[in-house]
Amino acid sequence: MTTITGIAGSLRAGSYNAALLRAAAHLMPAGGRLDIAGIQGIPLYDGDVEAKQGAPAAVTALKERIVAGDGLLLVTPEYNHSIPGVLKNAIDWLSRPPSDSPRVFGGRPVAIIGASTGGFGTVLAQEAWLPVIRALGMRPWFGARLMVSNAAKAFDERGELIDERVREQLGQFMRGFAEFAGS
Ligand SMILES: Cc1cc2nc3c(=O)[nH]c(=O)nc-3n(C[C@H](O)[C@H](O)[C@H](O)COP(=O)(O)O)c2cc1C
Repeated sequence: MTTITGIAGSLRAGSYNAALLRAAAHLMPAGGRLDIAGIQGIPLYDGDVEAKQGAPAAVTALKERIVAGDGLLLVTPEYNHSIPGVLKNAIDWLSRPPSDSPRVFGGRPVAIIGASTGGFGTVLAQEAWLPVIRALGMRPWFGARLMVSNAAKAFDERGELIDERVREQLGQFMRGFAEFAGS
């Protein structure tokens, strides 16, 4: 059984990226499962808090879900042509302390997808993640790309993925990434 840990980088209840992650979970191939994790409850990184109290409970719990999986799927929004701060903040917490980062991220298969209401579907945010996953020593899967543009049309009001072309692409993406992460 190959387990992918998925994290959507938005706190919005109606997040298109969270909806995309749920759709990805439904499209996992046989023999694979997607654990839908999240960044809710993770405070802003503060080195003083870390020094005095260590990592917050929400960070420790998310770390262990990543470690329990075979690969990490980042489902990223795009803010001002780059990484959304809330997701970067979560990754920054997860990379602490440096001595624990290799256990969490080192050599771990990772893939990036995303949805935006704009016309370019997070292409710039996905590019902006590359130096971060390199810094963390992760093993990126570049076998396919998935960018959901005009997200308000791709999902219905309940957050169901209704764009059949995207559904097809997402299924192929998850098959490819699950195979990579499981090998
Ligand atoms: C601060 C901010 C900046 C944004 N910048 C971009 C952008 O550069 N490109 C884009 O396509 N959409 C941009 N958007 C629109 C997002 O794609 C849209 O809010 C999307 O719904 C966010 O993802 P979510 O639905 O998962 O929360 C921006 C939104 C916010 C709040």
